[in-house]
Amino acid sequence: MWSLPVSLLLATISVLGFSATTQAAVQDEEQVVLNAPHRQPISPGPRFTCRQQSPELCDAGSQHWTGTVNISSEKSMFFCAFCSGPFVMQHALCAAIPVSLTYVVGYYESRDSPETDPVLLWMSGGPGATSELGQFKGIGPCAVNEDGNSTRRLEFSWIDHANVVFIDQPVGVGFSQISDRNQIATNLHDGARDVYTFLSTFTKEVFPELANRTWHITGESMGGHYVTSYTEYILKQEAERALQGLDIGIHIDSAIIVDGYIDGAYQYTGYYDFFCEDWRADGRLYPLMNATACQEMGEAVAACEEKGAMCRDSYDVDVCAWAMQSCGQTVGKHFTDGVKPGGWNPYDSRFKCQEPPLCSNFSTDETIVFLNQPWVQEQLGFPNYTFQLIDFDTNRRWDAAGNLNLPVTRELTWLLDNSDVRVLFFNGNNDIIINTPGQMRLLDAQPWKGQAHFRSLRYQDWFYTNGKLDQGGGGKKGGTWKGGERLKIYTVDEAGHFSAMNQSEALGVVVADWLRK
Ligand SMILES: *[C@@H]1O[C@H](CO)[C@@H](O)[C@H](O)[C@H]1NC(C)=O
Ligand SMILES: *[C@@H]1O[C@H](CO)[C@@H](O)[C@H](O)[C@H]1NC(C)=O
Ligand SMILES: *[C@@H]1O[C@H](CO)[C@@H](O)[C@H](O)[C@H]1NC(C)=O
Ligand SMILES: *[C@@H]1O[C@H](CO)[C@@H](O)[C@H](O)[C@H]1NC(C)=O
Ligand SMILES: *[C@@H]1O[C@H](CO)[C@@H](O)[C@H](O)[C@H]1NC(C)=O
Ligand SMILES: *[C@@H]1O[C@H](CO)[C@@H](O)[C@H](O)[C@H]1NC(C)=O
Ligand SMILES: *[C@@H]1O[C@H](CO)[C@@H](O)[C@H](O)[C@H]1NC(C)=O
Repeated sequence: MWSLPVSLLLATISVLGFSATTQAAVQDEEQVVLNAPHRQPISPGPRFTCRQQSPELCDAGSQHWTGTVNISSEKSMFFCAFCSGPFVMQHALCAAIPVSLTYVVGYYESRDSPETDPVLLWMSGGPGATSELGQFKGIGPCAVNEDGNSTRRLEFSWIDHANVVFIDQPVGVGFSQISDRNQIATNLHDGARDVYTFLSTFTKEVFPELANRTWHITGESMGGHYVTSYTEYILKQEAERALQGLDIGIHIDSAIIVDGYIDGAYQYTGYYDFFCEDWRADGRLYPLMNATACQEMGEAVAACEEKGAMCRDSYDVDVCAWAMQSCGQTVGKHFTDGVKPGGWNPYDSRFKCQEPPLCSNFSTDETIVFLNQPWVQEQLGFPNYTFQLIDFDTNRRWDAAGNLNLPVTRELTWLLDNSDVRVLFFNGNNDIIINTPGQMRLLDAQPWKGQAHFRSLRYQDWFYTNGKLDQGGGGKKGGTWKGGERLKIYTVDEAGHFSAMNQSEALGVVVADWLRK
């Protein structure tokens, strides 16, 4: 049977159909809604833990906290939060809470001016990736050294411009704990509900000074699904509560999607452009596959587009599984076959695959070693924990539920047509699994009221110098961009799937500019 090398960290393709077991689990979880944030807590007592962390854990140059927020009696979500700048906030509530965690998260104060800076929520992909990936290998202020036992400060981080909160979700992933793994959210609605519950407690109880702050909902890879659908969910919940004279004070200004998964069909058709055409027109080598392979791929594009449209129109699990499988066996075949040791690395065309599906050696990864150090776990409040960067069990559960094949086109349309949320895309030009030409096709085809104008725009090069976008066209070239106030995409040169890590200065410059608007 055709097998999927990479349903990881972005999950473009899965073949398993509808699973009755998982569906039952989903229904059970509906009952958790009783504990939704707008209800009174059923039992008294702290619904979160929070501890300020030392620079030993992350040499961030700003304050940072980790903790957990109870989502229900079975679930706690981990956070890690960083403040912008050296400003010292008074976190009396936070400090007063005895330490004992269930759900964990991280929050970093922005290095700039945390008292007014917006708050940025970051979600890594998968499903199943911990946001520690985003913290240590993405937009965060520190990285783990080779010794796996210490960290170093990074020069460019999104905490330079915003307070940043990393969360491990869906609960069951990373340090976010769940008592019954059959209760893991395996669809976007349940995931959104838990994140909304988290945000409610986080802004009301853990950091009340964040009430009424501006938020940016961000993520990478599968995060494209989380960001679009969770943002829609939060906005709708807040609107409903506002009608009742209540809200939790989350004002979402924008959504930022880094190498994000929106619709698999466009990634498949994008393979054709990526491997066979001069899509970037920057003098790079092409085609990357031989004439026979390119002809076969090209001839299959129209049929894949047609099936992708059927999936998009129906949002039906079975139709979408069939469409993605068909695209995978036709346009995707030569690439998929080539994902093997020494072959294509789906996450970065500049590197060869070591071992599928991840193609890089995660078992020796210094970040995993660090997060499994007894003193680190002690400091985080998770003694004797088996920490994994990628939770494959959660990934398989989404796959089994058939929910990896569904697009989030409607959700994106809703954001663009029914809200004021601005949407920013980044895409690494060496990313294959979420390839830039696929995202370009997708955004031109994205239905919304600004589509006609967006599609008419041409891509232009962008440049940056000394931490600023350089409108004069001098400085270092970052890639190409197009868009307007509501929707923009920046493509990023010399960057794979983890473009925020590969080009941290370049992305940081664009984010700084974007947040200032
Ligand atoms: C929150 O979770 C912790 C750990 O599971 C538990 O001890 C505590 O009672 C919970 N609090 C509430 C209000 O449910
Ligand atoms: C790892 O780091 C901790 C804390 O800095 C230190 O106590 C410990 O000795 C280190 N372990 C090794 C093997 O260097
Ligand atoms: C948030 O804003 C609302 C409306 O502007 C106001 O009523 C409320 O007091 C504010 N809450 C905080 C904690 O500042
Ligand atoms: C062309 O490339 C495909 C897939 O990469 C390979 O299977 C095939 O053998 C190649 N054909 C020729 C003629 O090189
Ligand atoms: C990955 O690391 C492990 C542990 O060091 C090693 O045994 C394995 O050979 C490595 N795999 C590759 C493909 O490098
Ligand atoms: C840590 O976990 C191991 C394996 O599950 C167990 O044998 C050991 O007793 C635990 N240690 C502590 C201090 O809980
Ligand atoms: C870019 O990211 C890849 C992982 O996708 C990593 O192996 C590589 O070291 C990164 N390069 C830079 C310059 O950050």
